[in-house]
Amino acid sequence: MSITIKDIARMANVSMTTVSKIINSKDKEISQATRERVNQIIREHNYTPNKIAQSMITKKTKTIGLVIPDVRNPFFTELARGAEDVANEHGYSVIFCNSDDNMQKEVTYINMLVEKMVDGILLAPAATREEKIESEINIRLPIITMDREAAIQGIKGHVKIDNIKGAYDAVHYLVGLGHEEIVLFSGPVNNQTSMDRLEGYRKALEDNGLKFREDRWFAGDFKGKWTAEVVRSLMRDSVSFTALFCANDLIAIEAIKELQKCGIRIPEQVSVVGFDDIPFSSMVSPELTTVRQPSYEIGAKAAEMLVGHLKKSGKLPSPITLMPELTIRDSTRAILRSGGG
Ligand code: RIB
Repeated sequence: MSITIKDIARMANVSMTTVSKIINSKDKEISQATRERVNQIIREHNYTPNKIAQSMITKKTKTIGLVIPDVRNPFFTELARGAEDVANEHGYSVIFCNSDDNMQKEVTYINMLVEKMVDGILLAPAATREEKIESEINIRLPIITMDREAAIQGIKGHVKIDNIKGAYDAVHYLVGLGHEEIVLFSGPVNNQTSMDRLEGYRKALEDNGLKFREDRWFAGDFKGKWTAEVVRSLMRDSVSFTALFCANDLIAIEAIKELQKCGIRIPEQVSVVGFDDIPFSSMVSPELTTVRQPSYEIGAKAAEMLVGHLKKSGKLPSPITLMPELTIRDSTRAILRSGGG
């Protein structure tokens, strides 16, 4: 039968904490003679640490929970990749959870991670938040939110991008191409990220002397399937527009598919801009002009923030805001003035 930390402590005539500190290389204040005596017993008995037993003493499992809202959306898988790479570099394992953009499922996963004694949580919150459910979450663990924000109590950090700027740059670029009738397909209305992009859209119109019109704004989830019906209704009602700004690439790709089905040529008749720059965006035809998010970096920075806190505790650093970047491809072009060149 394999020996335990308790057996080693008895044989070396030291405490279990001393043995654990030596195993975890936290043994600066322990004498060389004691370290050698304990390590000799470990070698002679071919001891391998029992992770659960170890965590009972150090109260650390060297495990991080990672909750993302849509495992099928490449934006989140890239974000998760960045978080996992940094966590692994610092010796942490990661437990992945997919909340399906469902807040109740998100809370269930957070509670499960607390029970599994993870050392901290990286959370990309579900899109639609419910204050009541959110206020019930109060965990002692450090929790870093990424991309979207969440009003969860506890030790918190946050990593996001400047969504207002990203949307502003996209619409300002379209106006610069001569587009004045620009439709917005936004994300959910009760989602801060989506509302920030709406604000960037409005501000860019107003700064260019164009009026914001409610009848040119349509809201739906970030999966984008809802856009087909909206495109058909715009065609049916002969709504005049020459450009479409979408709050993420899945919305843009679904909208382009339906516009082309309706016989609309992209970008000759309608220019389309997305948001995220997921890998599909440069694979579709025409290749999508979009606002690139540093998805991998968001996850990596969040993991660095969490690991840094776990290593030296103390207050979490102030929120990090990364910059998006307009990436111009083939789904946009200047508007040709009738009769003009
Ligand atoms: O594609 C999913 C969207 O939801 C992204 O734009 C990201 O910012 C998240 O909020």
